[in-house]
Amino acid sequence: MRIRVLALALTLLVTGWPGATSASAQTAAPSRRPDVIYVPTPEPVVDAMLQLADVTSKDVVYDLGCGDGRIPVTAARKYGAHGFCVDIDPARIKEANANVAKNNVGALVKVVEGDLFQQDLSGASVVTLYLLPSLNVKLMPKLMKELKPGTRIVSQTFDMGDWKATKEVDVDGRKVYLWIIPQK
Ligand SMILES: C[S@@+](CC[C@H](N)C(=O)[O-])C[C@H]1O[C@@H](n2cnc3c(N)ncnc32)[C@H](O)[C@@H]1O
Repeated sequence: MRIRVLALALTLLVTGWPGATSASAQTAAPSRRPDVIYVPTPEPVVDAMLQLADVTSKDVVYDLGCGDGRIPVTAARKYGAHGFCVDIDPARIKEANANVAKNNVGALVKVVEGDLFQQDLSGASVVTLYLLPSLNVKLMPKLMKELKPGTRIVSQTFDMGDWKATKEVDVDGRKVYLWIIPQK
């Protein structure tokens, strides 16, 4: 009996608890709680955001909290733009990398796991946002400090508080806003 118990304990130690998934097969948890949950932008709204920002092949499109990467992937696929996709959630990063591979835009789109508030934004010529009103307002000083004059910012659904949009359009009942970083 003692030998059987010892053998079972040894088996569990080596193979893990029956039915449990090994840690390496799971996606890791985010390093901290995301500031907003994942809700993907519908494709017609993605298209409207890129059109409103007037994206071309000369642009570098940063999506801050990029989810499955659909905005930078579409910018690369449709316009030949470069894209930068940052998300704090490893599950989203896995999806974004799969999306980049599926659309064959790995040469144009970079995917980074991290906190959007810690990223250097100076390389962007277009920034896309689908966050929350409070996060847009919190992000505003960083956008003003790091982005070059002329950089376009588009946000769907949520505005930027007191900073009035240059332009706004309605897509399927949703607002899409555009701001342009002014000369310093
Ligand atoms: C509403 S979803 C938008 C996803 C994508 N931009 C789109 O429009 O389809 C917000 C995303 O922000 C990510 N997120 C939340 N807080 C973040 C943070 N501090 N840094 C980076 N990503 C964050 C979430 O994991 C989620 O994927």
